[in-house]
Amino acid sequence: MDVIEKNRLLMKRLASCSDELALQVDALDWKELKTALKECIFHGDQSALPKDYSPASYFPIQPIDSEQEVLYAQAYAQGEELIRNGKTAAFTVAGGQGTRLGFNGPKGTLPVTPIKKKTLFQLFAEQILGLSEKYEVTIPWYIMCSPLNLHATVTHFKENNFYELGEENLRFFAQGVMPATDFEGNLLLASQHSLALSPNGHGGSLKALIDSGSIADMAERGIEHVSYFQVDNPLVTILNPLFIGLHDLQNSDMSSRSLTKTGPFEKLGNFVSIGDRISIIEYSDLPEEKALEKEEDGRIKYRAGSPAIHVFRRDFIEQFASGENKLPYHRAEKKVSFINDKGELVEPEEPNAVKFETFVFDALPMAKNPLILEADRREEFSPVKNKTGVDSLESSQADMVKRAKRWLTNLGHSISESSKVEICPLTYPFEEDLSQADLSGYEFNSELIYLG
Ligand code: UTP
Repeated sequence: MDVIEKNRLLMKRLASCSDELALQVDALDWKELKTALKECIFHGDQSALPKDYSPASYFPIQPIDSEQEVLYAQAYAQGEELIRNGKTAAFTVAGGQGTRLGFNGPKGTLPVTPIKKKTLFQLFAEQILGLSEKYEVTIPWYIMCSPLNLHATVTHFKENNFYELGEENLRFFAQGVMPATDFEGNLLLASQHSLALSPNGHGGSLKALIDSGSIADMAERGIEHVSYFQVDNPLVTILNPLFIGLHDLQNSDMSSRSLTKTGPFEKLGNFVSIGDRISIIEYSDLPEEKALEKEEDGRIKYRAGSPAIHVFRRDFIEQFASGENKLPYHRAEKKVSFINDKGELVEPEEPNAVKFETFVFDALPMAKNPLILEADRREEFSPVKNKTGVDSLESSQADMVKRAKRWLTNLGHSISESSKVEICPLTYPFEEDLSQADLSGYEFNSELIYLG
């Protein structure tokens, strides 16, 4: 008897004692589970490494010659035109469990800014509102949650009057879940009444956009491009005209930002080229000798890392509806508490289970004409992932302050080293908006400087 059949029979028997479990078992996509087991347990994790690849080329932050300069100017204007004409939407993936941070609540509700303690959601909302005012257009915002945090997220927005964006311009929806299994593929129960279920990875966002009716809503609004970002990066530029413009001019299905890695082993996905396609190899999968390879000028070859900022063409996402495009499952070995044969709760100290997740960047190799635009890390990336140290709230706040100070010093203001600066993205969504503003009313010699 195969493991799926074994799982079916066991679940049927257990579900007869619990209505709640019976509902979950009924709703389970057995075909999908079979695929996940095949990809991650019975055939090993085959999604890890492509055969032939080389470092992906990318558009640098600054144009390298006059031809590129002209292209960038043209792309910037095109990007602004698309935003102004209501062709772009913001899309946040906020369905993660934030286990490393250990914050009690949806990560987007974490207060992050250095002075006003605005939450991540408020920061993004203000940026979207700032851009809407700048370009005199409504920018709809789609927020993917998980079944575990959808209610808390919507409640947070309600309590904050949807941050003045208008409830009708926001859409919240839950991504799919997948059951966890043991290393042999047997389903695990979290309790007598529930399977051990967890969100199906950020790759679940493409299908969730479709299933929730968000893509249809976008089509109705005339949205052509979807700007994808993660909930934990307060520095993200939600709609970058140059990026959107290049993506559109090149007729790209999916485009990505890159960062120059701080070293060969920085924990970022690595952009690689496979023929005319682009792919990402996870940091843990890039062989050490490849990671260490260098160019003649001494720079590492595989230096383009992914901060998980992408733009999708809406009609590319639609291809995931019919299964024409499908993302592979990745195996994540985790500690999952479960009910054993004796009905006791076991809380393992070592990973005991497989979670099945899809990753959004696996859509890249399926995209036509993909492109990468380099980003300046100091300007656009400082995620809040961990409790302390690298990529923590503390490091991210320090980077927010540094960026704000840099914007001011670029304008000739001198700011004391000990001062904290916070810039409101509603008033100044881009650095250029600050440079065009009359800042004469502000005191630049105080310890706390809030520009809003
Ligand atoms: P991470 O991979 O950092 O995971 O997610 P996480 O769940 O937030 O944090 P850890 O690993 O448990 O500490 C990157 C982004 O993808 C979203 C997260 O919300 C975050 O914005 N994500 C992740 C989802 O939306 N769904 C998922 O199933 C997983």
